[in-house]
Amino acid sequence: RLGVWFLGVGTGVLLAASGASADELRDQAKDLFPPVPAKVAHVRGQPVTSGQIDLGRMLFFDPRLSASHVISCNTCHNVGTGGADNVPTSIGHAWQQGPRNSPTVLNSVFNVAQFWDGRAADLREQAKGPVQAGVEMANTPDRVVATLKSMPAYEAAFEKAFPDAPDAVTFDNMALAIEAFETTLVTPNSRYDQFVQGDDHALNQEERRGLQVFIDSGCSGCHYSSNFGGQDYFPFGVVEKPGAEILPEKDKGRFSVTQTATDEYVFRAAPLRNVELTAPYFHSGQVWDLKQAVGVMATAQLGTEMPEGDIDAIVAFLKTLTGERPEIDYPVLPVSTEATPKPDF
Ligand code: HEM
Ligand code: HEM
Repeated sequence: RLGVWFLGVGTGVLLAASGASADELRDQAKDLFPPVPAKVAHVRGQPVTSGQIDLGRMLFFDPRLSASHVISCNTCHNVGTGGADNVPTSIGHAWQQGPRNSPTVLNSVFNVAQFWDGRAADLREQAKGPVQAGVEMANTPDRVVATLKSMPAYEAAFEKAFPDAPDAVTFDNMALAIEAFETTLVTPNSRYDQFVQGDDHALNQEERRGLQVFIDSGCSGCHYSSNFGGQDYFPFGVVEKPGAEILPEKDKGRFSVTQTATDEYVFRAAPLRNVELTAPYFHSGQVWDLKQAVGVMATAQLGTEMPEGDIDAIVAFLKTLTGERPEIDYPVLPVSTEATPKPDF
């Protein structure tokens, strides 16, 4: 009898504790990090049309946007592997290595601005960058437009996507279509989302504790909103600067955007959804292990030597942010014609 009583009380206490804390934690978390929506219907107040999404998907996968005809957006933002390239810093035109790690395109529509330093206001502006960057696709707007205009099926797809435009095939419309496609790259229904939407069993004790530590220790002071980051800028090394391997001296982050001394080594708080899929970490891509990345954050941003058990719990929690990734049909692309510019290395 005594054993049963103990068991009863024990279970009751356990249930009460986990029940109450699950609700409190859920309320706290829901405000800080709302679930991601399953669909984004508007961007900058404009409806996203299926014609634009279909065209954007073609463009995203078309290596002929690059001078070499070898590199597409998907080369560095592989939507099959988490929307990034999983190398320290990206390899682009003629095997050149760029200076930064490729952030995921998944859920990038929820970020306040694009790039590690936020230098592009939105996805439309962002998409024009890599096409022209010498170390990425090394192309020019004129050559891209000439390439697209050389294929009747692209002309038709642009006209369908932008029916009111007198000249539909433009560099600007290319960027708008890519943005429209990127609005579909959202990953709803992660176990975290299931938990905040009411499923007590979606997270285990360790993961819940990790979420609590993530909030209580101050990670959420910078990594908040439905994307767990991507909303504001902070010095990398608020309390203690990481070593030059992780924080290379010559990349001064937001300073190059604002030219303001206080923005030296300031970066956008990285969005953490699907972080399990996007190693290596940080803008330098020098940390492969998520546990080590969390340890770096604890010392650099919070000034604490976090107990290993807390780091483990945070890592367990961060892995619950992996959502349902969109199934994307690889598009059948228009055939090049005699008028299509030839690859250029
Ligand atoms: C950043 C999309 C091509 C490497 C980004 C971001 C987006 C994006 C949305 C910002 C994400 C964020 O800030 O969270 C695209 C599109 C491309 C394209 C639509 C094709 C038009 C490429 C290619 C490479 C590449 C070919 C590699 C050679 C990178 C890198 C960054 C980045 C390294 C971070 C750069 C920085 O912060 O300065 N891309 N990308 N991208 N992408 Fe791409
Ligand atoms: C980057 C987690 C606290 C600002 C990251 C990354 C992780 C992470 C995993 C790398 C993501 C990636 O490369 O994709 C955490 C955890 C924290 C914490 C678990 C609490 C222990 C903070 C705080 C701040 C902050 C308090 C602001 C003061 C940033 C910034 C980056 C970043 C600016 C980008 C760094 C870069 O330029 O590479 N965080 N973070 N984090 N976090 Fe935190």
